[in-house]
Amino acid sequence: MNRIALLGLAASAALAFGLPAGAKPITFELPPETAELKPGPNLETAQGNCVACHSADYILTQPRSMANKKEFWLGEVNKMIHSYGAPIQESDVAKIVEYLAATY
Ligand code: HEC
Repeated sequence: MNRIALLGLAASAALAFGLPAGAKPITFELPPETAELKPGPNLETAQGNCVACHSADYILTQPRSMANKKEFWLGEVNKMIHSYGAPIQESDVAKIVEYLAATY
C-alpha cells in the first residue's frame, strides 16, 4: 500500500472514531506553568543559554541544600558546556553562575 492510500485510511479512521454528534467538548485544567526561569540578576543571559535543550525544571529540581551554591552551579554550567556541548560563551559563565546561585 502506498503512502497516499495509508493517509486516506488514517483520515477515514479519524472521521469514523470522531466524537459523536452532540457530545460535549472535554474541558480540563492545564497544570501551572513551571518551566520558566525565576526572575533574578542576569536572567536574560541564563534564559538565552539554559533553556534551549531542556526545560527550566531541570534547574528547579536540583537539591536546595548544596553547601556552596556558586561552586555547584559552576560545575553544572561546565558540565553543560563540556559534556553536553552547550554553546555558552566563556564570558557568560560567571553571569549565569551568579544568576543561578542567587536565584536557586
Ligand atoms: C546543548 C544542550 C544543553 C544546554 C544548552 C544546557 N543543557 Fe543542561 N542538560 C543537557 C543534557 C543533555 C542534560 C542531561 C539530560 C538527562 O540526563 O536527561 C542536562 C541536564 C541538566 C541538569 C540536570 C542535572 C544534571 O547534571 O544532569 C541541570 C541542572 C542542567 N542541565 C542545567 C543547565 C543550565 C544551568 C544550563 C545553562 C548554563 C544548561 N543546562 C544548558 C543539555 C544542555
